[in-house]
Amino acid sequence: MPDFSGRVLHNAAGKPLSLIKFNDVLSDIKNLKALASTYQLEFVGLQQLAAIYTDKAVNQFGQYALVSVDEGVGLVDLRDPKLLPLCVDFAADALLYRKDKGGGKNEAIAKAVGIKSTLRPSVVDATAGLGTDSFILASLGCQVTLLERTNIVCALLHDGLDRGSEDVQSRDIVARMKLLPGNAVERLQELIEQKQEVDVVYLDPMFPHKKKSAAVKKPMKMFQTLLGHDADADDLLTPALSLAAKRVVVKRPNYAPFLQDKAPTMQIKGKKHRFDVYLR
Ligand SMILES: C[S@@+](CC[C@H](N)C(=O)[O-])C[C@H]1O[C@@H](n2cnc3c(N)ncnc32)[C@H](O)[C@@H]1O
Repeated sequence: MPDFSGRVLHNAAGKPLSLIKFNDVLSDIKNLKALASTYQLEFVGLQQLAAIYTDKAVNQFGQYALVSVDEGVGLVDLRDPKLLPLCVDFAADALLYRKDKGGGKNEAIAKAVGIKSTLRPSVVDATAGLGTDSFILASLGCQVTLLERTNIVCALLHDGLDRGSEDVQSRDIVARMKLLPGNAVERLQELIEQKQEVDVVYLDPMFPHKKKSAAVKKPMKMFQTLLGHDADADDLLTPALSLAAKRVVVKRPNYAPFLQDKAPTMQIKGKKHRFDVYLR
């Protein structure tokens, strides 16, 4: 288990969020207890699903919690039983579909990080989130280090990587992904001091949505509500530029300003997002 020294999210009562196990049998909880303890979550064993989506549970745990479901660990809104738990699932069809049938090295993200016929840059994804971009890069052959500062996100990623490493379809890809929890400003500095060779630093901090967007799916909205916007994103650019040997890539909504108002060397534009590329 890694050391966690990042941001611990709390519920309305000021308590750390809970990791709730529900099942008829409370067995095999050693890993869940370890996960909760590493990421400073309160571990709770509950016997029945019916006890989760109740006012009593909301009063006890707050509106949001992590639960252990068959698919793995997922974030839930205890006020909304219809909302599926938000899990990191690298074996999920959508991601595998994009890997198998997507644009491959012609995808915008692949071009942005500089993937070429045989060239596979090593990448530090300093704002890993739910790991989708990291997974795409790893599926294209890049070694990816994932930095993430928020405890619940690290717990979801940790669980997703564990399960992904046991799945035949995703295990080779997941073997190229390494989670390093903590604040990326500090982690990038440590990597610089350790003289680690890193080709690309990739940044995708949270940026406020322009207006209420129907396009954002409900489970993602829950994620965004909990995490808010990364107002300190500018702090990432300077250490990223010091560490990256080849380039820094910043993913931004098209309407967002440049990080530190610094114009990139080039841009790759998509419908909603763009990649600002700073060559070294
Ligand atoms: C928009 S999400 C990234 C989504 C990701 N690219 C994906 O494909 O799933 C931004 C994430 O960066 C994390 N983050 C923001 N600033 C950070 C920092 N200074 N250190 C580590 N993580 C950070 C946030 O906690 C959040 O999980």
